[in-house]
Amino acid sequence: MKKIEAVIRTEKLEDLKMKFADETLITGMTVSQVLGFGEQKGFKEYVRGKAVQPMLLAKVKIEVVCRDANVDAIVEEIRQAVTTGEAGDGKIFIYPIEKVIKIRTAAEEKDNINGLDLTGIQIEKNK
Ligand SMILES: Nc1ncnc2c1ncn2[C@@H]1O[C@H](COP(=O)(O)OP(=O)(O)OP(=O)(O)O)[C@@H](O)[C@H]1O
Ligand SMILES: [Mg+2]
Repeated sequence: MKKIEAVIRTEKLEDLKMKFADETLITGMTVSQVLGFGEQKGFKEYVRGKAVQPMLLAKVKIEVVCRDANVDAIVEEIRQAVTTGEAGDGKIFIYPIEKVIKIRTAAEEKDNINGLDLTGIQIEKNK
């Protein structure tokens, strides 16, 4: 399993949420409000070598834990939903996940057992 962490423009969160609405590749999402800066230090343009005070801009961080096999497809969905083409569109970080435990059942969620869904959510959806 992997965690996809994306820092995106605040105003793009709604677009991303709608893109995920019918998404079967993801079984959950965590959203946080964060502050940050990237290569331009929070400015529209940045001249390398010129000292500036970095500006911390409000961004949104989203986290999705998914099966290894779904990482590339989900990253592409995120990019499609949040790209403007301008500096400041954000970054995506991928982490390995050791274990996921569902609190309600104490069951450990496995990456891929005989092609079963990560959380068993498909079974519950049909109830
Ligand atoms: N190296 C990094 N480490 C941690 N967080 C980062 C890093 N780079 C960017 N971020 C986070 O992503 C947000 C958006 O960064 P941004 O899109 O400006 O990245 P960038 O590398 O400067 O790309 P671009 O050139 O497209 O602007 C930042 O405000 C920060 O929260
Ligand atoms: Mg930048």
